[in-house]
Amino acid sequence: MCGIVGAYQRGGDVLPSLVEGLRMLEYRGYDSVGVGVIVDGAIAVRRRAGRIADLEKVLADGALAGCRIGIGHSRWATHGAPTDANAHPHSDASGRVLVVHNGIIENDKDLRAELEAAGTTFTSETDTEVLAHLVAAHLAEAGGDLAKALRRALAKVRGYYAIAVLHQDASGEAQLVCAREGPPLCVGAGTDGTYLASDSLAILPHTRDVLFLEDGEIAVLTPDSIRLTNREGEEVEREAQHIDWDAEDADRGGFEHFMLKEIHEQPEVIARCVQGRADLEAGDVRLDGEFFGDERLRSVERLEVLACGTALHAGLVLKYLVEGLAGIPVDVDFASEYRYRRVPSARATVAIGISQSGETADTLAALRKARDQGCDLIAICNAQGSTMVREADASILIQAGPEIGVASTKAFVGMIVAAYLFALRLGRARGSLSGEAVRERLGELQRLRGAVEALLAKERVEGLRDLADRLADQKGFLFLGRGINYPIALEGALKLKEISYLHAEGYPAGEMKHGPIAMIEPDLGAVVLAPMDGVVDKVRSNIEQVKARGGPVVCVGTDPACLELADDAVEVPEIGEWLSPILNVVPLQLFSYYVALRRGCDIDKPRNLAKSVTVE
Ligand code: AGP
Repeated sequence: MCGIVGAYQRGGDVLPSLVEGLRMLEYRGYDSVGVGVIVDGAIAVRRRAGRIADLEKVLADGALAGCRIGIGHSRWATHGAPTDANAHPHSDASGRVLVVHNGIIENDKDLRAELEAAGTTFTSETDTEVLAHLVAAHLAEAGGDLAKALRRALAKVRGYYAIAVLHQDASGEAQLVCAREGPPLCVGAGTDGTYLASDSLAILPHTRDVLFLEDGEIAVLTPDSIRLTNREGEEVEREAQHIDWDAEDADRGGFEHFMLKEIHEQPEVIARCVQGRADLEAGDVRLDGEFFGDERLRSVERLEVLACGTALHAGLVLKYLVEGLAGIPVDVDFASEYRYRRVPSARATVAIGISQSGETADTLAALRKARDQGCDLIAICNAQGSTMVREADASILIQAGPEIGVASTKAFVGMIVAAYLFALRLGRARGSLSGEAVRERLGELQRLRGAVEALLAKERVEGLRDLADRLADQKGFLFLGRGINYPIALEGALKLKEISYLHAEGYPAGEMKHGPIAMIEPDLGAVVLAPMDGVVDKVRSNIEQVKARGGPVVCVGTDPACLELADDAVEVPEIGEWLSPILNVVPLQLFSYYVALRRGCDIDKPRNLAKSVTVE
């Protein structure tokens, strides 16, 4: 999760404001950092791979001290290694336009090609540098108005971004603007100037009255004023919000718990996991490494997924995706069982390890056994340098950023997106999916982020909190799902039990009559997943069976009849079968969070649990 800051002060030295602002954003995770200011009438930049302390060593020479306008950035590398050259800020060829950016320019390759064809030379691998050149290219026609030039440049951009742009024109006039489309961005006016940041925490030292930009808006900052305009360039008047957070919230980005912050980061995780991998034009998916090329994938006859806990549930979703989209059989095993089981030969099998940490002892042991059995190994993982990634033949990084809460949420969603991309690539390589079919599935993936954002809207979250408050004293819950949502029933139950300590069991809905229905009573009901799919009429009868025995039913899904039947309905956006697990799991994550909150549990560090189980 990158972070951006900026300031335009009446006087004094802007560097301390920028560096302290970046320090307040450290919770977002980063592996390079940089600042840019205007000194002696020119833009000066210092940026380093590494930590803020490394940057401070470079700033110690005082060359950038005493300026009153600047921008800063902390970067979590997704595409383009964490190097000095790839660190932000990035400038245009003249060095007069400087940009910092959090997010993704999805059409950066086309824009880069256009700019190169027009003679632009690039100095980094980043999509951000494209923005710097684009803004510079529009300055003249915008009459030197930076906000206008930025709006015109952004009209060409497809993506997801929070941007700050600094410009020093030939006359020495300085301008500072920022824009939002997706990732959060806020501005505030203090006694000594105006400030911008990805997160209000970085502004709090200057003011507690903060304006949050909405999508499509641009803010123009001067030392004495902030002017907001909307997508059409019209002036926007908006009341500042008074922020009560204090410094120790810094690590959690103002959220009460890491888990809640990480649930809210999921739209950004989806965008980052997809970035650079969805090739809409070719109707294909681009994964790093020749292992994911057509030839190697055509020789795969079976997949063996090995994982634990939440990662195993992602593996079960992968099973439905790969079998349904690529037509290859997939076995999924608890790593702790596989490692001790007598396993027949693994002819033409690829083992896929799924893990947030990449250090789970059972998963590593199972993968080593699979390799001994003759399997090649693929890692779907969040930790780039982890043991699992290093020992695999190929890997798909889920780009979820650091996940601190013990209960895994955003990494789970990242794992499913990675599994989806892998299934599409596998299906395309084997000819079970046409380019058009993949294009259609990638279209659904493009809608996913907005659908998850809708589920995280304030009023939706408050509805789930009310539901959790009402049901927090239940004796327990059955979570029921069918097909690709059966793993989500398992995951919903795991989330609830691991942070609220309530009894919860996930079951295939069809299994209810084979035993679990005996448990149903007024204080042990069911949470039922009901997407509109081929078996939804069976789900309706499951709901009727639970209600007939006095059990309360919460229904999460899209089917109107099921939602109508339930005591509590949580409707989710329609997205199609293959990605419905992600939309169904988000309400379950929030439900579990608020039940645990109501029960006063230690949500980020539940009793008896570790974030990564590196021992047996
Ligand atoms: C998830 O909420 C749990 N904390 C736990 O089940 C976890 O998924 C499991 O320990 C596997 O961890 P890994 O993804 O790091 O391998």
